[in-house]
Amino acid sequence: MSRIVYVNGAYVPEEEAKVSVFDRGFLMADAVYEVTSVLDGKLIDFEGHTARLRRSLSELEMPSPATDEELLAIHRELVARNGIHDGLVYLQVSRGAADRDFAYPDVPPTLVLFTQEKPQLVDSPLAARGMSVISIPDQRWKRRDIKTTQLLYPSMGKMMAKAAGADDAWMVEEGVVTEGTSNNAYIVTGNTLVTRQLGPEILSGITRTAVLRLAQEAQLRVEERPFTIEEAQSADEAFITSATTFVTPVVKIDGQGIGAGRPGPITQRLRELYIEEGRKAAI
Ligand code: PDD
Repeated sequence: MSRIVYVNGAYVPEEEAKVSVFDRGFLMADAVYEVTSVLDGKLIDFEGHTARLRRSLSELEMPSPATDEELLAIHRELVARNGIHDGLVYLQVSRGAADRDFAYPDVPPTLVLFTQEKPQLVDSPLAARGMSVISIPDQRWKRRDIKTTQLLYPSMGKMMAKAAGADDAWMVEEGVVTEGTSNNAYIVTGNTLVTRQLGPEILSGITRTAVLRLAQEAQLRVEERPFTIEEAQSADEAFITSATTFVTPVVKIDGQGIGAGRPGPITQRLRELYIEEGRKAAI
């Protein structure tokens, strides 16, 4: 069955969803995006995603295509029209279509949203077995706090991981981990959770904010600071967070098992808590 996609004010079958070849998202990756997960047909952390979208738009002086209320209505309409129970809504805003020029043109932005079904979002085989990651140098641009569609290096990173027989890659800069290719990175030692502090070097994950709150409520000590691959390899547990993976254990880094070499109890508890709380607060 064909999906219904939203393009600039219209709900159309995916075959008819079209954007100009002059669109700056296509020509220059002059576009920002958000991915919001859907559980039981409801949106998880929607306000966080729209708040971060506003920030990305404002950092790039890109006009807003719609109000938060309109964006919520579009998300809900797409979830309903496509009958999404568990899955995600992808949203992209580009600066719009104009003659190719490096300077920003004054044109209306392009707004596209589509859904993807993901029946195994909660019962994820990867979450059950735990992931293996490799370390790679972080060769992205220096404004990773803006969620742009420049995803070529993260794609290269996933391919490097695949070639090495691993599930994903953690990126390292100046000797310390920044984040995963499409997720935030954490380690747990004893009762202490460590994750890199926010700044231009990483994306401020919406799942990260929720998980750090849950960790504090669960009496874990939270340290927001950089860590090395060596420290991660000798930690008790490691995991990643993102809208599409929630909390997913990492059990191997550069071939070395972490802790007992299987998903750890704190990671599993945080995953359960996040899903439980996420469902409760979903809209
Ligand atoms: N990626 N860091 C990077 C580089 C990311 O691309 C993402 C999300 C995150 C986690 O952010 P959040 O918790 O808000 O999803 C961290 C999305 C899921 C993607 O590109 O598909």
